[in-house]
Amino acid sequence: MLPKESKSVLITGGAGFIGSNFIPYFLDVNPNVNVVNLDKLTYAGNSDNLKEVEYHSRYNFILGDICDKVLVTRLFENYDISGVIHFAAESHVDNSISSPHDFIRTNIEGTFNLLEIARTYWNGKKDRFHHISTDEVFGSLEEEGYFKEDSKYAPNSPYSASKASADFLVRSYRHTYDMNVVTTNCSNNYGPKQHDEKLIPTIIRTAINGEEIPIYGKGNNIRDWLYVSDHCIGINKVFNQGIAGETYLLGGNNEKDNLTIAHKVCSILDRLKPLKKGKYASQIKFVQDRAGHDFRYAIDTSKIKKELDWEAKENFDRGLEKTVTYYLDKYTI
Ligand SMILES: NC(=O)c1ccc[n+]([C@@H]2O[C@H](COP(=O)([O-])OP(=O)(O)OC[C@H]3O[C@@H](n4cnc5c(N)ncnc54)[C@H](O)[C@@H]3O)[C@@H](O)[C@H]2O)c1
Repeated sequence: MLPKESKSVLITGGAGFIGSNFIPYFLDVNPNVNVVNLDKLTYAGNSDNLKEVEYHSRYNFILGDICDKVLVTRLFENYDISGVIHFAAESHVDNSISSPHDFIRTNIEGTFNLLEIARTYWNGKKDRFHHISTDEVFGSLEEEGYFKEDSKYAPNSPYSASKASADFLVRSYRHTYDMNVVTTNCSNNYGPKQHDEKLIPTIIRTAINGEEIPIYGKGNNIRDWLYVSDHCIGINKVFNQGIAGETYLLGGNNEKDNLTIAHKVCSILDRLKPLKKGKYASQIKFVQDRAGHDFRYAIDTSKIKKELDWEAKENFDRGLEKTVTYYLDKYTI
């Protein structure tokens, strides 16, 4: 059992990419907080991601579904939960195109279940509910411009539509019930512990396996890349210091198109694991574009910089080198 003297925070989806980077950091910088990590361990969750905290005295893992009303209610009661950081989601856009149902269930119904149980259990108390969301809720940008906190919502995929719905539910619980909610919308994270299906791990894995490196369309879709540790620092800041009812956008100020990412990863691999003959980039293969593929996302981070003194610190090339090194180790064992 967790030590009783300190407060307990429910973290959902903590065995996924961002959550499993976040939990060790959060335990470290919040010495009086117990973490209860509720994760269903879908194909995207991996308990090995949390080996370093498995036996931590302030960490507890609960296998279960955020949609399970009985279980979540029991967790609030048993651990006297006084804060929620909600990562759990179906997160892969491609899967939302081929089978959207799980996205509706986990991302919308799951968020609703957590909000409703938190509202009931806290019963007017101002405990914090932090919802983790995405910049994809704002749709697609052309060559110019940046998303800001007051940008219009225009989600284009079942994934982003489900996240947008969850954002609106969170917003409504502030407006209607005066709950102490905050929402963060971030750009594409990169770094260790990400699932194999995502872009950077896929480039590395296919490259070193001697396979074609698949790049959608012409590879000119642009994303802003945020190193996951920077994101974790930002989440902790917003959870502890963000103003109730506010939304904060977090980005890395690293806009890159997918083809550039592929070339950068390949040139790091050329250096770290040279081929006997030729270069990894020769394996790049353009494949049929994702349906409804958003062209560009970019974030104006001036609000969180001004109000909470947060900005991403990791240099992109250095972050990418660390990332490639991590997956090289993982894929060559
Ligand atoms: N990764 C990114 O670049 C990125 C960018 C913007 C926003 N986000 C958001 O950040 C959050 C975390 O993203 P991630 O990349 O770590 O996702 P992920 O897919 O790596 O991890 C999701 C985790 O949630 C768990 N989960 C899924 N359904 C569940 C359910 N019904 N009940 C309990 N647990 C469940 C999975 O087992 C997994 O551990 C998500 O809300 C996502 O929308 C991610």
